[in-house]
Amino acid sequence: MARLRLSLGRARRMRKVRRSATNQTLGLITTIAARDDMFSWAYPAGYFATGRVALAKIQQALLEKEADDPPKRILDLPCGYGRLLRYFRATWPEAEIVAGELVPDAVAFCQRTFSATAPQSKEPLWEADIGGNYDLIWSGSLLTHFDEDHWKPILHHFAEALTVRGVLVFSTIGKSGYEILQGSDAYPWITAVIPPRYALSDAGAGHIVQSIADTGFGYSHYPDHDDDPYGLAVALPEWAADRIVASGMTVVRHEEGGWGSQDLWSVTRSARTEHPDDVTATGIGGY
Ligand SMILES: C[S@@+](CC[C@H](N)C(=O)[O-])C[C@H]1O[C@@H](n2cnc3c(N)ncnc32)[C@H](O)[C@@H]1O
Repeated sequence: MARLRLSLGRARRMRKVRRSATNQTLGLITTIAARDDMFSWAYPAGYFATGRVALAKIQQALLEKEADDPPKRILDLPCGYGRLLRYFRATWPEAEIVAGELVPDAVAFCQRTFSATAPQSKEPLWEADIGGNYDLIWSGSLLTHFDEDHWKPILHHFAEALTVRGVLVFSTIGKSGYEILQGSDAYPWITAVIPPRYALSDAGAGHIVQSIADTGFGYSHYPDHDDDPYGLAVALPEWAADRIVASGMTVVRHEEGGWGSQDLWSVTRSARTEHPDDVTATGIGGY
């Protein structure tokens, strides 16, 4: 009986949240996959708010790039179960949308739900064929999970997939993450929605803090996942900007906390995008 009441209550709550999301974004598909771990019953409306905020920032990045026409080809990688992709589909119904993921179930969901072309991605990502000629690439919460050795090749892979006038918008964990890992209580809106120490062990969190103090960047594996390249990465803006420039791109905008707990970057191809091994970091570029 209690279970039935809980599920009826949830269904009612969800109807309200979905109605509000479609009222704010015409044509939004509100189906959420059962396995989408970006959705939380603790704050269901947050799922759509996160997508809406990212879309607004991406539209701003396109305006700043003086893109006159709506994007014709869009890559969302990693697309997860389409938390953002649904906003792209509603906003640019004519666009060809490519959605890349490692999780086959997520790839299949995005393909059938949002009419996306969804190739299976690979680890490491730069070995995956992600297509090219994109006017817009969105990469939310990807570099937030990889060690330094992944940054330049991933960014370079994206750079090569952009059109000359295309824009890449991606997120990083920056200064707020560094301070939270040191125990700061200055970010209650972030600590309310993330697990303690970003789900790292004390030693893992301590390692990141020390490494940032030394270099501006820190990475740790999640507990008991020492062989998994997918952990937690925190990068101060200067460190991240150096990698962007070294990957053959120019920073158009960096916004601290631009996407809730994460920083947002919008970057474009530099005049000539060279192989990352041939490029020397020259500092903070257009930042
Ligand atoms: C935190 S989730 C973010 C998903 C989505 N961007 C969102 O904001 O809802 C990170 C995702 O990255 C995916 N991922 C990790 N490595 C990948 C790779 N090499 N290629 C594609 N996706 C990858 C994971 O499977 C996971 O779904």
